[in-house]
Amino acid sequence: MDHVDSAAIEVMAAELLSSAEVARANAMATAPRFDFLASRVAQQRFAAELLGVPASKLTAAYECPQCGTGADVAHGRPGYLLDGGSAPLLLSASRASGWLLLAAVVRPGKGLRLGADLESVAATEFAGFDEVALTANERRHLASMEPGRRSWERARLWARKEAWLKMTGEGLRVRPDSLDVLDKPGLHDYEPFSDHEPSSHHEPFSGVPSGFVAALAIGTGAVPL
Ligand SMILES: CC(C)(COP(=O)(O)OP(=O)(O)OC[C@H]1O[C@@H](n2cnc3c(N)ncnc32)[C@H](O)[C@@H]1OP(=O)(O)O)[C@@H](O)C(=O)NCCC(=O)NCCS
Repeated sequence: MDHVDSAAIEVMAAELLSSAEVARANAMATAPRFDFLASRVAQQRFAAELLGVPASKLTAAYECPQCGTGADVAHGRPGYLLDGGSAPLLLSASRASGWLLLAAVVRPGKGLRLGADLESVAATEFAGFDEVALTANERRHLASMEPGRRSWERARLWARKEAWLKMTGEGLRVRPDSLDVLDKPGLHDYEPFSDHEPSSHHEPFSGVPSGFVAALAIGTGAVPL
């Protein structure tokens, strides 16, 4: 982003974000602070557009599995207040290497939950990742794939885990090597059209940047891990 863009983001952040969001941003270094402000402004405008209300009518209302809810909580599961009540919107967000993925369900059915994750394929390619992040079953699955496909598959599994754990709200308080996501219902994969021949269970989607995979988890909260 150039100087004009960052100045515009600062103005919009000051107009739209809650004091807890601004306080969280102000504890960050310059580059992550800007990414955070830009993504929270984009998320609020996205939510407002879906709800058909001005963005200034929404107030961030986050839910952390450890800290709970309240005006001073700006981390955890995203949500908004509208006219004093919870805005009728499920939201999930993910940032990766300067990109932001936003997913939402407007006026969700009772008990529905949503999680989304965007992952750079390169970010999961390091020694020791599989032992910490994958179940024994997932490691066997990876080993059975042709070598050229393995890095994509590893990133796909990781995006699925983070999307799932955002859906349940637990986040990485759950050990990722205890959560098998190969066959969980409600998980959907997305990858770019152009990078390679997509496998049958991936949905090619032009909105995913080259070198990234995304996953969406949607279902009810009561999920066996
Ligand atoms: C959720 C998590 C897996 C995502 O991590 P990540 O890959 O580094 O980051 P992503 O950009 O993909 O996702 C971040 C977004 O996930 C969402 N998120 C964070 N915690 C969440 C939760 N418990 N439930 C649902 N969504 C959550 C937020 O929208 C967050 O955006 P923000 O940075 O603007 O607040 C990780 O942050 C995590 O495990 N957090 C919870 C840990 C926890 O509960 N700690 C206790 C804090 S007191």
